[in-house]
Amino acid sequence: MTDQIVLRHVTKRFTTKKLGTITAVNDFNLTVREGECFSFLGPSGCGKSTTLRMIAGFEDLSEGEIELCGRPVSVKEKNIYVPPEERGLGMVFQAFAVWPHMNIFENVAFPLQIRKLPKADIVQRVKEALHHTSLDGMEEVYPSDLSGGQQQRIAPAGGYRQ
Ligand SMILES: Nc1ncnc2c1ncn2[C@@H]1O[C@H](COP(=O)(O)OP(=O)(O)OP(=O)(O)O)[C@@H](O)[C@H]1O
Ligand SMILES: [Mg+2]
Repeated sequence: MTDQIVLRHVTKRFTTKKLGTITAVNDFNLTVREGECFSFLGPSGCGKSTTLRMIAGFEDLSEGEIELCGRPVSVKEKNIYVPPEERGLGMVFQAFAVWPHMNIFENVAFPLQIRKLPKADIVQRVKEALHHTSLDGMEEVYPSDLSGGQQQRIAPAGGYRQ
């Protein structure tokens, strides 16, 4: 079985004027296999989001390498960097990442439309995603009309069965 997500010696350093250079992720090694449900737990600022951003391709690595399903997607030494849209991952951001000018259907359908899925397929998948996030029947509603919790659930709905 191919390991789905592999991190080898992944390190990320940030340099800012005020703090100088800080190491956000230090020599991190991880293997997540197919079907495993994995969580990061740790104090604020320990590098959880930075690690997820590097896996999804929103952040470059300072050192190390990342493989997805056996494919090298970030390898510092070889200058390999596959952009996020070519990694086949769904990511739910820490802040509400919903489009205010799109209704709930359009928000949830957006990643599927980018992948050019057939319209009937998109409609079916959006319906299922809204059902699993208790947002049934909200297709025409805009995010500003929803509660904070409902808005927050639009993001994972958009990542459902991508
Ligand atoms: N773009 C950036 N520029 C400079 N420093 C950053 C940047 N992003 C994160 N950091 C720093 O890297 C460290 C790790 O941040 P990260 O966001 O990964 O933490 P976290 O574990 O997700 O924390 P939280 O639980 O608060 O969300 C922190 O010290 C943070 O200040
Ligand atoms: Mg975080």
